[in-house]
Amino acid sequence: MKRDFIIFGGIGDLSLRKLLPSLYYLYRDGQLSEDFRISCVSRADKTHDEFVELVRSKLVEFLDDDFDAQVFASYSKILSYKKVDLTDKHDWQKFADDLNIRNDGGREIIYYLSVPPTMFATVCERIREFNLNPEYSRLVVEKPLGEDFDSASKINSLLNVSFDEKQIFRIDHYLGKPALQKILDIRSNDPSLEEKWNKENIKRINITVSETVGVEGRVEFLDRAGVLRDMIQNHLMQILSFIAMDLPAEMAADAIRDQKVSVVEALAKIGSDNVKSLTVKGQYIAGNNMPGYIDEIRQQNENAAGTGETFVEVKVYVENDRWQGMPFYLRTGKRLAKRLADVEVIFKDGEKVVVEIQPEICMREISSDSEIQIERVLVDKSKRIPEAYEFLIHQIVKGDQTYFVRDDEIMASWKWIDGIRAGWQATNQKIIDYKAGSNGPELE
Ligand code: BG6
Repeated sequence: MKRDFIIFGGIGDLSLRKLLPSLYYLYRDGQLSEDFRISCVSRADKTHDEFVELVRSKLVEFLDDDFDAQVFASYSKILSYKKVDLTDKHDWQKFADDLNIRNDGGREIIYYLSVPPTMFATVCERIREFNLNPEYSRLVVEKPLGEDFDSASKINSLLNVSFDEKQIFRIDHYLGKPALQKILDIRSNDPSLEEKWNKENIKRINITVSETVGVEGRVEFLDRAGVLRDMIQNHLMQILSFIAMDLPAEMAADAIRDQKVSVVEALAKIGSDNVKSLTVKGQYIAGNNMPGYIDEIRQQNENAAGTGETFVEVKVYVENDRWQGMPFYLRTGKRLAKRLADVEVIFKDGEKVVVEIQPEICMREISSDSEIQIERVLVDKSKRIPEAYEFLIHQIVKGDQTYFVRDDEIMASWKWIDGIRAGWQATNQKIIDYKAGSNGPELE
């Protein structure tokens, strides 16, 4: 079947840095069907040659030694550029005529919305108006999918104008990280471990994503959203749900996603009565030769409010039979001492199982006296490990929704996050300072 992969925002940063390089690898490795075509849509004036040259220069930059001029010469033949001002109906008419779905409808069309959420409504409405969504079409969207329950619910309704849930692929790039996908394998392939995977045997589970980077030019968004919404609502919630879910009877996309949703729906509510004892939020100040958050953001925007938290730790309870009363600690922050994402499962008998998501991709089993440490590498290191986007795009092309976030999951997590924010506001919870390059504050 013919396939069209259409990127709105096709010459933006995400497309050039992640999507087109990922598609290059999939093309090179024979993972795209013969009739696969990629169209990049943008309103900039560009000739085909200028566009191809832009893509070539970016691939040279991002692929280093993996760039092969010969492969690119044939890859470039499946690339095309479409100049469309998304706010202009005449441009849409031309775009629709070019696509020519009416006469050539038996093909799969994947629309990738690499545009700000404020454009989602226009794109979805036009797709419906011009009948551009044949049965086999899919829609791919990226975070931020809303900033609270209400805005996320609006976005979901917009997407549903033209697509049903089976066609929508919501990306959380953490789901493209190999260690995260391995969590289910680890649990289902080791019955003795799975037997111990509950509150009777486990004392606590720590889920950490610590970053060394600061705000990196995203002042406006980060200062408004803070890491609670930028990281906990999505990436840490995804890790938590894979760790805490019950294993489904069959490993099918919706069976897995049903179990994940159950975890998020079972999170004990945090609100004004308990937010102080269950959360800590922080902001970095100058330290270790690095500027503080406020100085950094005011250099980019002198009017920035400076109220965004750059660190959060939340003590979370999952209220179901398996986990009732056992705490999960979700911890994330920017400008911390090291870059690390991992899950530490601490058993009551002192044993520890650690799944490292990055920088290494491995699992360690550590005995109670720390004398025995078994390390299992979770990927084949002799092969190139595909980047998160490459894995995810491959799944989209194959039509497998397992590693994409379903609407009910996203809504349940926003509801829970909104409770924390309301609690912070009602109790006027303070932001704790921590030094850049340190380990961040601790929950008491
Ligand atoms: C993004 C957040 O989704 O994930 C960023 O918006 C964060 O603030 C990034 O830095 C972390 O991703 P990774 O893959 O580098 O751990």
